Amino acid sequence: MSTKSDLVIRVSGESGEGVISTGDLITLSSARAGLEVYTFSTFPAEIKGGNAMFEVRLSKDKLYAQGDKVDVFLAFNQEAYDKYIKDLNPDNGVLIYDSDAYTPPTVEGRIDYAIPFTSMAKEKVGALITKNMVTIGCLIGLFDLPYESIKELIIEKFTRKGEKVVHLNLKALDIGKAYCSEKITKVDPYTILEGVKKEKTIVMTGCDAIGLGAIAAGCKSYYGYPITPATDVFKFLAKELPKAGGVIMQMEDEIAAIGACVGASYGGVKTMSATSGPGVSLMNEILGYSTMAELPLVLINVARGGPSTGLPTKTEQSDLNCVIHGSHGEGPRIVISAATVDECFYHTIDAFNYAEEYQLPVILLTDGFTGGRKEAFPIPDITKIKIVDRTRYQHVEGEKYARYENTKSGVSPISIPGDIGGRYTSTGLEHSVNAKPAYDPETRKIMMDKRYRKLDTFLKNTKCCDVSGDNDAKTAILAWGSTAGACYEGVQRLQADSKKVKLIVPKVLYPFPEEEIGKALEGVEKVIIPELNFTGQFAQMVKAAFSNKVEVIQYNEYLGLPFKPHQIVDKYMEVSK
Ligand code: COA
Repeated sequence: MSTKSDLVIRVSGESGEGVISTGDLITLSSARAGLEVYTFSTFPAEIKGGNAMFEVRLSKDKLYAQGDKVDVFLAFNQEAYDKYIKDLNPDNGVLIYDSDAYTPPTVEGRIDYAIPFTSMAKEKVGALITKNMVTIGCLIGLFDLPYESIKELIIEKFTRKGEKVVHLNLKALDIGKAYCSEKITKVDPYTILEGVKKEKTIVMTGCDAIGLGAIAAGCKSYYGYPITPATDVFKFLAKELPKAGGVIMQMEDEIAAIGACVGASYGGVKTMSATSGPGVSLMNEILGYSTMAELPLVLINVARGGPSTGLPTKTEQSDLNCVIHGSHGEGPRIVISAATVDECFYHTIDAFNYAEEYQLPVILLTDGFTGGRKEAFPIPDITKIKIVDRTRYQHVEGEKYARYENTKSGVSPISIPGDIGGRYTSTGLEHSVNAKPAYDPETRKIMMDKRYRKLDTFLKNTKCCDVSGDNDAKTAILAWGSTAGACYEGVQRLQADSKKVKLIVPKVLYPFPEEEIGKALEGVEKVIIPELNFTGQFAQMVKAAFSNKVEVIQYNEYLGLPFKPHQIVDKYMEVSK
């Protein structure tokens, strides 16, 4: 039996060797067996070649982060070994390597299994591409991975490639499994943990969950331009949105994509685009138009490392300032975040609801780490999901439509083309309540105040932060987006070690939820803010609001990698000295 309550398996090799497929099969079969799964993968920016890596953490208990150390490392080649061996648990870590490809040095405390994957695939199966299935067969032999479930998944995965491909892969699986039982003596302490079968869970990536959330929210149009790592949202919706009665179109660039969203919204259709940092830069002018014309739309930013082309396949949280302030002039938008895969689903629905209710652009800011990883979560009960539609103009005989009526909430009823008495010009120019261009000082003030008043109304109506941990803690950790998971596990470990700590996770990033964060910081002397960016973009906002009340400690990483729970624990201990 495993000596641990969780197990981290990492697979790495050359792109094209089927690393991602190997990881996917381990993940899905384990999830079907009732285990919690949490994945992390990274692949090169080059279209062909380079190192690919897939990691999955398995546990019976809910997982919030990737593990600190790898327990089982399957390294297909020397490059993979050189790159990642440092992450293997020094105490009983298992290295499985392709003995046809390289020979690693013997290391005390490490358990090595040398398996000739390449020659088995070439000579016994007759197809080198099946090398990854030979390795999965070996993993079944070594760690009791669920054999039947993997066979089913192989059939599901490769049927589109033809019967012969399915047959060869099943053969490879059995050859690997038999090799392990006959030739390998198991000396490691690990086995795949036994899960508790749950009836109603789904396993998907953050990007797929965003797509599903959009459909659940009533999105009927998507306009996009491919960009890593947001393209997966596009790919999911290309398959699924037409089935839900929606339209999807690849535009010539991001400017056209967001322009089409504005047009669709003017026509009364719930609409969305998804992009990453460089795409947001291009979209920013039209996002300003969406604010000015008060046309609801949703934009997803699956962030990556910037600036410029930057780190296209690596994660970062450096687009916060860009999504809040990126446009010219001053225009209110709402920016929310997603920390987990299920939040990708539910917060996309929130994004649509906020956009419709407050008639402005709403940006859901997530990142490559959350967008690309797989987690299992309970199948959402669609009947319990609240859907908000924009407040429509109801014509009264003899009344003149005031599209931008100066209401108390800042929100004015909107018409769509064809509504009786609801004709108006949707303009990016400053305008009067009747939507006529108007630049006089009085109108300007009324309209600016009205647009920003919507943010006050939003803050009054919305719970913006999750607060957990010890209420009387003197030290707090504040984390947003994908960083929250590592912090959650870090806080659990600190509390298990009798340390007092509070965790504050803002879900709404803009408008800055000053009142809620202020309340959560009452009694706190130090707040640590870990962020995957150089300048501490959210920390700067917290400092601006609270530096006279609490010591704000920035903790910035910008390596393209997510935080691990032990880093959060270490930082807390350093700060508490
Ligand atoms: N039998 C048959 N086919 C197999 C197989 C097997 N045993 N194992 C894998 N394959 C197929 C997969 O089905 C997949 O085919 P598909 O493209 O038709 O779906 C292909 O081989 C690649 O395998 P996979 O496991 O998915 O990936 P990998 O680990 O080998 O490579 C990628 C990683 C795919 C992420 C990487 O090569 C890639 O896409 N690079 C491009 C990165 C990029 O997009 N850059 C631009 C960013 S700006």
